[in-house]
Amino acid sequence: MKFVAYTLRHSPVVLGLILLGLGTACLRAEDKPVPPVGQTPLYLDTNQPVEKRVNDLLGRMTLEEKIAQVHADSKFSTAAVPRLGIPRRWIDDGPHGVREDVGPYSWNASGHTDDYATWMPALSALGSTWNVDLAMAFGDVIGQESRARNKDIILAPIVDIARTPICGRIYEYLGEDPYLNARLGVNYIEGVQSNDVAACVKHFAGNNQEEGRGTINMDMDERVLREIYLPPFEAAVKEAHVWAVMGAYTKLRGEYCAYNDYLINKILKGEWGFPGLVMSDWGGTHSMREAALGGLDVEMGTLVGSEDQSAYTNFFLATQFLDAVRTNAIPMSVLDDKVRRSLRPMFAAHIFDPMRLPGALNTPEHRATAQRVAEESMVLLKNDHQALPLNVSNLTSVAVIGENAVRHNAAGFFGAGVKTMYEVTPLDGIEQLVGGRLNVTYSAGYSRFSNDSNLVERAVTAARQADVAIVVAGLNHSRHQDDEGWDRTDLRLPYGQDELIQKVFEANPRTIVVLVSGPAIELGSWLAQVPAVLQAHYSGIEGGHALARILFGEVNPSGKLTVTYPKQLQDSPAHALGTYPGTNGTLFYKEGLLVGYRWFDAKNIEPEFPFGFGLSYTTFEYSNLKFVPHQGGSVVSAEFDIANTGLRAGAEVAELYIHQDNPSLSRPPKELKGFKKIFLQPGEKKTVSIPLDQRAFAFYDPAKAGWVAEAGDYKIEIGGSSRDIRLADTFHLQQ
Ligand code: BGC
Repeated sequence: MKFVAYTLRHSPVVLGLILLGLGTACLRAEDKPVPPVGQTPLYLDTNQPVEKRVNDLLGRMTLEEKIAQVHADSKFSTAAVPRLGIPRRWIDDGPHGVREDVGPYSWNASGHTDDYATWMPALSALGSTWNVDLAMAFGDVIGQESRARNKDIILAPIVDIARTPICGRIYEYLGEDPYLNARLGVNYIEGVQSNDVAACVKHFAGNNQEEGRGTINMDMDERVLREIYLPPFEAAVKEAHVWAVMGAYTKLRGEYCAYNDYLINKILKGEWGFPGLVMSDWGGTHSMREAALGGLDVEMGTLVGSEDQSAYTNFFLATQFLDAVRTNAIPMSVLDDKVRRSLRPMFAAHIFDPMRLPGALNTPEHRATAQRVAEESMVLLKNDHQALPLNVSNLTSVAVIGENAVRHNAAGFFGAGVKTMYEVTPLDGIEQLVGGRLNVTYSAGYSRFSNDSNLVERAVTAARQADVAIVVAGLNHSRHQDDEGWDRTDLRLPYGQDELIQKVFEANPRTIVVLVSGPAIELGSWLAQVPAVLQAHYSGIEGGHALARILFGEVNPSGKLTVTYPKQLQDSPAHALGTYPGTNGTLFYKEGLLVGYRWFDAKNIEPEFPFGFGLSYTTFEYSNLKFVPHQGGSVVSAEFDIANTGLRAGAEVAELYIHQDNPSLSRPPKELKGFKKIFLQPGEKKTVSIPLDQRAFAFYDPAKAGWVAEAGDYKIEIGGSSRDIRLADTFHLQQ
């Protein structure tokens, strides 16, 4: 990727050809940087170091021009400084594809015709692939499309921890484990930023529920912050060199996250040395002085009421801040630091340089990446007696049932929606794959608008008349389901789907249940009866094709859960301890480090499906665990063999968990510290090596204000899920 970026930047011919070929790239004339006339200033000299260019440009800016960089001038932009050739800076959502253009001053669609984008699978799907290469490819698609849509900063990825399964945005989240989120987040960001676009990792650091998110105060202790909620952000900064960070709406220890002195000034910019900008979430700024001094660099947002450009001059970091700097109430150095932080990503993205990567939009390659992510993300939860894959030659008819078989899920719902060129639904995918060979019928079975028992009856009849029934159940992006702003009210399927599935099963025991949703769902008593269940997520533009290929055996499922599925909501830590949704405005993180599987393990609670779980159409055998010290900079590598012992090609995610014997501070029973996805032909065996560095053994010691890896024994467990450990041995860490 880096090579491609280099070649494009240094080869005008290649670039010209690409530009010619891409009728889709859509730079608008007013957005192009116009360099000042006269002698070439230092900041336009590409041979100069970036920091020198930044300081040179800063030195030429007036107070007003500087202020213009630190607040929005429309829903998704900051103002241009034409005199100096600083273009308007365009920002956009989001994690699953570049959002349609809205505004400029309202949330209404702007009516452009060139703002389609590839709708990628949801981040909960990407997480479930456990494939770091796919995370990079996913980010690359987002980066390329951002450039082609003329965006400078893309508001993604989300690396917040899925703390409660009822969080309305859980489908936008990678999962419940900090290590997994960090690994996938880093690669996503690198993919984006290799395209001359800044990624904006969010929401620093919290937003674990939608209920009360605008004001809720998170109360967690230092170890929990450092070990659970911060690591994915720390990796984004230190490893992926992310250029922008969005502060969460929530408060931590009484101060809003977006300008929380401790989080932003001390940890992010101080300890981690983050040189880029901190942006508020939309409408997440509440005071000028706190924001200015607490480390917020760019105020973005939503003003209720007036919907025109003048609203933006009323922002806290607009006129108010300008007056404060003018009267020395706040020093100029505070403003200068913010502007430098805005300019650095612009130089990094080559905004002022003759060659900036043009990107590409809606290409067949992007759709292929979307499909591959979808195929690798689907998690086979149950498959008794090899009910799946379906064999077309043994069937004559299939009844497809459920609103989600035909529902379009790409558009709408805040920042996670995408204006897609098309959407292959589950029914489309099934019809296109087997429609010519099987009689495929469709029946809604339920409706989100009415309680019509005829729908159930018709579905039951269709199921009875078919060889196989496929119920495409799940949630949608309606309020109190998978939707920003509201959490779910429970974990059950809505619209009477549990009863529908039960009745369909009674009519046809060959009933396959497909779940289109974010994780997790509390599954009804039908779970014990139906032979097969597949978690399909919101799977993007090509999702229906991916699903059909899995159901009919062209693709072997290899997704694994990134969130524990509890048997009942009350088994999950935030609910077992009654901390959700908070008390008098404060959310107590009483479970401490025991988030997700850490809790279920520590409390010996049987989950419905454990973290890391997912079946395959083939079987894998693990053997020969050994520890190889000091390999390639690591403390030790765990080396072992995996063989495909079945009859189909497939992929296994090998997961490595660590448990410390007798730590000086208590630690969870096991923690994910490594994983690898291995692709194997039938009968094939590969040796896998998972390196572990010092940090893999360490915990955060508040008394020492740092990470400590104690000498002693560590149990290393390796397997196909957090509850399916196939190999284990003790490793002794020397001091
Ligand atoms: C969300 C952000 C999003 C922003 C802009 C907010 O409501 O929390 O994730 O980027 O809106 O759409």
